[in-house]
Amino acid sequence: MRTLKVALLGCGVVGTEVARYLTLHQDDLTARIGAPVELVGIAVRRADRLRPGVPEELVGTDAAALVARGDLDVVIEAIGGIEPTDELIRSAIAHGASVVSANKALIAARGAALHLAAREAGVDLFYEAAVGGAIPLLRPLRESLAGDRVNRVLGIVNGTTNFILDKMDSTGDEYEVALKEATALGYAEADPTADVEGHDAAAKAAILAGLAFNTRVTADQVFVQGITGVSAADMASARAAGSVVKLLAICERGGDGESATVRVHPAMIPLDHPLASVRGADNAVLVEAEAAGRLMFHGPGAGGAPTASSVLGDLVTACRNRLAGTAGPGDTVYRALTVRPMAEVVTGRHVDLDVQDEPGVLAAVAAVLAEHGVSVDTLRQHRGPAGTSLVVVTHRAADAALTTAVEAVAALPQVRAVNSTMRVEGR
Ligand code: HSE
Repeated sequence: MRTLKVALLGCGVVGTEVARYLTLHQDDLTARIGAPVELVGIAVRRADRLRPGVPEELVGTDAAALVARGDLDVVIEAIGGIEPTDELIRSAIAHGASVVSANKALIAARGAALHLAAREAGVDLFYEAAVGGAIPLLRPLRESLAGDRVNRVLGIVNGTTNFILDKMDSTGDEYEVALKEATALGYAEADPTADVEGHDAAAKAAILAGLAFNTRVTADQVFVQGITGVSAADMASARAAGSVVKLLAICERGGDGESATVRVHPAMIPLDHPLASVRGADNAVLVEAEAAGRLMFHGPGAGGAPTASSVLGDLVTACRNRLAGTAGPGDTVYRALTVRPMAEVVTGRHVDLDVQDEPGVLAAVAAVLAEHGVSVDTLRQHRGPAGTSLVVVTHRAADAALTTAVEAVAALPQVRAVNSTMRVEGR
């Protein structure tokens, strides 16, 4: 029986757990695959760092030489980033290895070219770990739902920002305070930009939309707004309205059959919405399909061991395919849907206004909204210590119309300030 040879690129939080489980569960993995699997090399940037549970004799710094050995069955990429990772993966594929990656940024940016290279070489390219950590999500979209028509994917796909928003919601803290706690607990990176500005979620949304709608979406086509502008006032206003603020990734198929919209932004969702109860650093994704209805995938979306679970699942499949002399499903793209801009997305808006308590205010606000073709869904007025608040939730309308309408309302002489304004989903 031949032994399957595996190399690992990167031995950080994820790579260390992959190496550990590969060693720990070698017998089970061998039984499941049908042949022994051997970790033959680990490429790292700094060989002097201690990595508990990782076989030291396998660690080296020459990643380029490792992927070019020519006898590898699978290369696991847990480095992240686009360069030099792209080059290493291409070299691995060119030298005949299947690739398992956890790299959302790379797949979202260069997925088409990498899939093509893998197809031409007759090898697998799998990346379940790139979206939703441990949650089986890409395989269900690619395989289990391949006979259905997915119309919408709506989810929380970034654990760091969900942790921060959850903290702000439960403590009333401002964003900066919650971010500090997320950093102290190791959720947020030293440079949290990719998470808090929404770019991490945007890359994941691009991958989800591509798989869901069989089209190509790159991260730069995704509308992105992060959470740095979310305030304690937004949280309080959401709570008073029976809602909670979440950073959502939303992929929708257009009704015309020719288009899609893909966006990442904070939104208020009602407390009884399935995503409202997703706490801490968890991820959860709702998939709406024509025949299946609504499916919910929920679990740990980040962290070494959960992400390693997805990597190892892909590894087993890639190894089984090697033994069978085949490759699994490759690129799923056969459509070229137009990705429409945010201005055209149909959504709702929550507007919390600090107003003068005098006759005619309600009428003035309603008139301005009507002028812009925006219809009021609910309207609530309450008097607090800081004055009178008027909270309007609109019916769904084009995002550009809602933005213009809110600007016009804010400019009314009776409106002293806008306490909070945010998109609304899931009503
Ligand atoms: N930084 C990501 C998150 C984890 O916070 O969800 C890796 O995708």
